[in-house]
Amino acid sequence: MELLTDEERLAELSVDQLKQLVGLVEYDPLADPFPVVGWDAVVWVVGNAAQAAKFYQLAFGMDLVAYSGPETGNRDHSAYVLKSGAVRFVIQGAVAPDSPLVARHAKHGDGVSDIALEVTDVDKCVAYARTQGARVLDEPHDLTDEHGTVRIAAIATYGDTRHTLVDRSAYHGPYLPGYVARPSTVVKPDGSPRRLFQALDHVVGNVELGHMDEWVAFYNRVMGFVNMAEFIGDDIATDYSALMSKVVANGNHRVKFPLNEPAVGKKRSQIDEFLDFYGGPGAQHLALATNDILTTVDSLRAAGVEFLATPDSYYEDPQLRARIGNVRVPVEELHKRGILVDRDEDGYLLQIFTKPLGDRPTVFFEFIERHGSLGFGKGNFKALFQAIEREQELRGNL
Ligand SMILES: [Fe+2]
Repeated sequence: MELLTDEERLAELSVDQLKQLVGLVEYDPLADPFPVVGWDAVVWVVGNAAQAAKFYQLAFGMDLVAYSGPETGNRDHSAYVLKSGAVRFVIQGAVAPDSPLVARHAKHGDGVSDIALEVTDVDKCVAYARTQGARVLDEPHDLTDEHGTVRIAAIATYGDTRHTLVDRSAYHGPYLPGYVARPSTVVKPDGSPRRLFQALDHVVGNVELGHMDEWVAFYNRVMGFVNMAEFIGDDIATDYSALMSKVVANGNHRVKFPLNEPAVGKKRSQIDEFLDFYGGPGAQHLALATNDILTTVDSLRAAGVEFLATPDSYYEDPQLRARIGNVRVPVEELHKRGILVDRDEDGYLLQIFTKPLGDRPTVFFEFIERHGSLGFGKGNFKALFQAIEREQELRGNL
């Protein structure tokens, strides 16, 4: 069993790096009824894919690798495939006025439509998922072109989000049949970092009040995911709002899904705000793993990406230094950039959160640099949520 995916090998990542970056662990896929290798792609539906694809190249330093659209015979929508390390985004936008993407975008705004996963046996996974009550959206089928054949299917998850399951072991094209290779037109300035992130660490789903456990059970039962960590109650309650969160992961821990639901607080929680503006459950944030968060944050900020502000008191708190111990960069450097630190029994992590990227207060990004810790920044939740609430209040949604 190969430990690295093709994408990781292409990105020149090693097993040791991935253990550090995303907490990859060894496990026995033969004992897994639904063996997931890792992430395949995050598919976005946006209002203007041409411009969003430029944003991810110019600000996030991603490389355009493939394209589908009217010029390639796809009259419905255009789609741009972008890569950074092992991370693949597919940015789709409607071209035809009657494209199904128009209605989807009207309902949800810019957001994630599909968290596609790489599996070794699409048919086995779908057959098992069906016995466990999953809704199969696309039956297993082949897509073929001159680069080979992809076996593909899709099952439904929370809201209008889907998991496409892909076996691309017999395919050597740039993405999928229907897409053509397309190089970036963006010229990176001399001296800019090769890439700002290497891997996708986790994707968080927001679901409605009272439904978190159902979705945890869905990932346990249908996809054989294991429970990683649990945060409930005081950990992530502020004076005003609260949420509950549980984390599930696939066998090798490459794919991690924290699932949040709102908890009853004095005011509306950030999860309520998301559900209202997204029009139901959906992907709330994507955590991108970097091995140099200082450079990543400096580059993103220089490109105009805005982050949640961390109060000075966070860094001045005498308990912070005691709690975090030795970290690889001086606290002053973290303070300057608003980067948060958390430590647990396994190590520590550095993390920072962007503001929502689109017009609606919905999806945003986290950048994370792990040093042994397999956690999600539990010690930062309170400071973080207070920062989010300040933003919510400015939007009139608290
Ligand atoms: Fe996160």
